[in-house]
Amino acid sequence: MGQALPAIFTRECASWHFAFSDARNNDFQLYYDANEIEGEFDSAATCRIGLGPWKVCLYDILMGFWERHSNRDAMRLIEGAGQPERILELGVGSGHLLSLLATRFPQSEIFGVDYSSGMIEASKRLLYRNKHSMAQVRFVKCDCFHLPDGLDGQDMIASSFLFDIQPYERIEHLLKESARVLKPDGRLFVAVLDGALESSRRSWLERKFFSMANSFYRLCYRSEGLRWLSHKLFKGYYTHCRPIDIEACVERSGLFSIRSSAVSSIRICGVPFLPVRIIEAVKR
Ligand SMILES: C[S@@+](CC[C@H](N)C(=O)[O-])C[C@H]1O[C@@H](n2cnc3c(N)ncnc32)[C@H](O)[C@@H]1O
Repeated sequence: MGQALPAIFTRECASWHFAFSDARNNDFQLYYDANEIEGEFDSAATCRIGLGPWKVCLYDILMGFWERHSNRDAMRLIEGAGQPERILELGVGSGHLLSLLATRFPQSEIFGVDYSSGMIEASKRLLYRNKHSMAQVRFVKCDCFHLPDGLDGQDMIASSFLFDIQPYERIEHLLKESARVLKPDGRLFVAVLDGALESSRRSWLERKFFSMANSFYRLCYRSEGLRWLSHKLFKGYYTHCRPIDIEACVERSGLFSIRSSAVSSIRICGVPFLPVRIIEAVKR
């Protein structure tokens, strides 16, 4: 008889038929093709669009700007982390969190990892615009799942909207890789779309609202029509993040203890749209 599938696997792959019955919103049928995703991020970062006197990368118009509110909320949690000497950001994207880190920790050595050279260039432009010392931040173009040796000994790792594009089994790998490069007692800060609303410190009304928002998002997520339209309009890009239960993933890994968490949201023109969870975990 075949071995029973681990709960996280069945939830990931097999439960999409029950999409409407699971109030936890954890049952997205995850779309994941590593090569395709990499190409999509790169083309959305490389394509630049003129907005008056500015040129903005397409990724910022589609995602980056709307994620900024949660990146600022993540920064509020990170701010309490003392004075780390070495900080690593995984999946820097167009650099909004990176720029906040460089502002808050001017004495720290910061490493920004992304596998998209388009994203790294976009981050460099933002740091330049925000007048940061380019000597403070080193960019490493690599896969977050295989971090080079020079990146070990980190006091802190921060990452926003990277864990929630990964299948659950890869989230476990990412947590292992993060633990490997962190010093003992090093801190991990992660922001993701929140798929565990009932365990969040939100009011009843907020939970109801975000539960409906997650359900709506689930309807759109990877719908064939929208995907086709998005590919046509946005240089092949389509959204990848989906709500997950990050606290459960971290606890299950046994590698970190969760020290604190905060709630936030993706906002469109200032209006809350999707729920976000930010956690602070300490390496065991
Ligand atoms: C959804 S974006 C988030 C970007 C940024 N943190 C933000 O909040 O706007 C995810 C980023 O992670 C990068 N990424 C995804 N998977 C990666 C991997 N396996 N290794 C390195 N970078 C990765 C993508 O290129 C992209 O820039």
